[in-house]
Amino acid sequence: MAIPQSFIDELLNRTDIVEVVDQRIPLRKRGSNHTACCPFHNEKTPSFSVSQSKQIYHCFGCGAGGNAISFLMNYDKLGFTEAIEQLANAIGLPLPEENKSQSKNLNSHHLHDLLAQIAIYYQKQLRQHPDAQCAIDYLKQRGFTGAIAKTFGIGYVPEAWDSLSKAFPRQQEHLLSCGMLIKNDQGRCYDRFRNRIMFPIRNQRGKVIGFGGRIIEKGEPKYLNSPETPLFHKGSELYGLYEACQANRQLERILIVEGYLDVIALAQYGITYAVATLGTATTPEHLKKLFRYAKELVFCFDGDAAGQSAAWKALEITLPFMEDGRQVRFLILPPGHDPDSHIRTLEPEDFASQVAAAMPLEDFLFNKLRQGINLESSTGKAQLVKEVSERLNLLPKGSLKPILLEQLAKLLKLNTTTMQQMLQNRVKPEGKTKTPLQRPLITARSAPSLVRHAIAILLQYPQLLNQLAVIPDFNQTDAKGLAFLFELITLLKANPNYTTGSLLEHWRDHAYSKQLKNLATYQLNGSPQDLLQELQDALTRLMEEQQLQALWEKYQQGQLADTEKTLLYQMLKNQHVN
Ligand code: UTP
Ligand code: MN
Repeated sequence: MAIPQSFIDELLNRTDIVEVVDQRIPLRKRGSNHTACCPFHNEKTPSFSVSQSKQIYHCFGCGAGGNAISFLMNYDKLGFTEAIEQLANAIGLPLPEENKSQSKNLNSHHLHDLLAQIAIYYQKQLRQHPDAQCAIDYLKQRGFTGAIAKTFGIGYVPEAWDSLSKAFPRQQEHLLSCGMLIKNDQGRCYDRFRNRIMFPIRNQRGKVIGFGGRIIEKGEPKYLNSPETPLFHKGSELYGLYEACQANRQLERILIVEGYLDVIALAQYGITYAVATLGTATTPEHLKKLFRYAKELVFCFDGDAAGQSAAWKALEITLPFMEDGRQVRFLILPPGHDPDSHIRTLEPEDFASQVAAAMPLEDFLFNKLRQGINLESSTGKAQLVKEVSERLNLLPKGSLKPILLEQLAKLLKLNTTTMQQMLQNRVKPEGKTKTPLQRPLITARSAPSLVRHAIAILLQYPQLLNQLAVIPDFNQTDAKGLAFLFELITLLKANPNYTTGSLLEHWRDHAYSKQLKNLATYQLNGSPQDLLQELQDALTRLMEEQQLQALWEKYQQGQLADTEKTLLYQMLKNQHVN
C-alpha cells in the first residue's frame, strides 16, 4: 500500500518526535536536546538524545537513529505503514482515502470491538455454560492450569447453530464479515464454531483478530480456524506473539512451533517466547515480523518425516533473511513428541537449554545437503558444491556467505582456490552490469568531503537554504555526490518546511540512507551563521570546480572557444596557487 509522500510530509510536519518518544520513555531536557538512557541497548548513562528542531533521535552509544516513523518502527516494532497509521491516529490526522476510507476504518474498529466481545463471551461460556464441563475436563486432563487458560483467553462455544446470533443480535453482517458466521445456500446464517474449545488469536498489539477452535476429544476437523478476513491474514499473523511480548520486556529469541496448545503448554512451563503459525507453513511475512522482535529464531519441529520436510522448507524460506547479526536454529524433537508433550518430560531449564543450543542453520543446511552424497568422490564433491551454491545465491550480502564457503571447503578438504574455481563454474555471477567509468573530478580529492560537508549542513539546518545568496545549479553533473546535493537543494526549494526528520524520511529507502543518517548527526561546529558561510563557500567552490571540469573536458575534445581557453587557464592557475 503506497502512502503519498505529501501525506507523510504533513504527518511529520504535525508530529513532534519529542512527544512521541517521551510517551514511551521519559525524556529529560538537556541543553537544546532531550535525553534518556537508550531503549535500544543497555546503558547506565544516557547517550540517547532527541532533537526537537531536527525532529530526529540519535544514540551515540549504539548508533540507533532516525525520525518519528523510524522510532515507532523500532520501539513499537511496527511496520512502516503501521507506524504511519499510529502517528496519524495520535494527532487525529485521517489516513488518505485510498489507504483507508473513513467508513472502512470505522468498520474495522467495530469488528475489532466485536471480536474482543466474542472472546469475552466464549471465556464466560467456559466458566458458566452447563455443557462446558467436558471442555474443562479435557483441558485439565491435558494438564493445563486455569491460570494459563486465562492468560491466553481460552473459551468455549456450546453446541448450537446460533450462539453468536443470540449473544450479538443485529450484528449479523459484521459477524459474517469477520468470519464468525457462515451463510448457507438458502441464505441462512449459522455459527462457524460449535462445541469447541476456543483460542482467541490476537495481533501483536493485543487486538483479537480471529479464533482457532479445537474439537473436544476426537473428531474432524481437529482444529477450525477463522477464514481470511479484513482483520485476519494467516500468512502474516503469529499465535502467541502478543502474549510473548507481554511476558518479556525484550525477546532474546523466539521459538516457532506448530500448534496453539504447544505455545500454551510452553508458556505454562515458563517458556514464554514461543509463537505458532496458524496452520500454514512459515511465510516471508512471518519472518519479516519476527525479526523485528528478536535477532534469533528457533524453529521447532517434530522428529518425523513431515517435521523434517517442514524444517527444510522453513530453512529455504529463511535464507534471504539471514542478514548479519541474525541467527536461526532448528530444534528437532524426539520422535513422537511435539513441544507440548516434550516440555512435560523434562525440566523447563533443560528445555530452554536445548532451545538455546539448537542446531544452527549452517549445520542444518550442510547436514541435509550432504545426505546421500559420497564426499570422497569428485562427482560427490561437485554435487555438494552445486547444492550449496544454489542456496548461497539466496543469501543477502553479509558474512554468512563466506562462512558457509569456508565450511564447505573444510568439509570437502579442498583449498579455497580450488573451491572458488568449482564455484565459478557453477555459481552464476551476480547480474553485475558494468557501470561506465566515472569521469574523475579534477579536484577529486577535495570534492567528496566538500560535498559531504554541504550535505551535512543542509540536512541539519535546512532553513539555511533560503538564506543563501547564490543557489547553485548542479543539474548537469554526473558525479554522484554532487547530483545528490543538487537533489537535496531542489527538494528543499520545493519544501521549505522540511526538518531533518522529513528529509531522512524522503530518502528512507535510498542507497545513501545510512550515510544520510550519519550526516544528520555528524558534529558540526560553529553557529548557524558560521555554517551558512561555510555552506556558501563550499557551494561556490563546488560550482567553480564543476565549471573547471566542464571546460577541461571541452578542451580535451578540442572544442574550446578562445574566451573559454583564457578562463580555463586562469582557473587552472588559480587552482595551483590555492
Ligand atoms: P497438530 O495436529 O499438530 O495438533 O496441529 P496439535 O497442535 O498438537 O494439537 P493437539 O495437541 O492435538 O490439540 C498443529 C496446528 O495445525 C493447525 C492448528 O493451527 C494446530 O495448532 N491445524 C491442525 C489446523 O488448522 N487444522 C487441523 O485440523 C489440524
Ligand atoms: Mn499436540
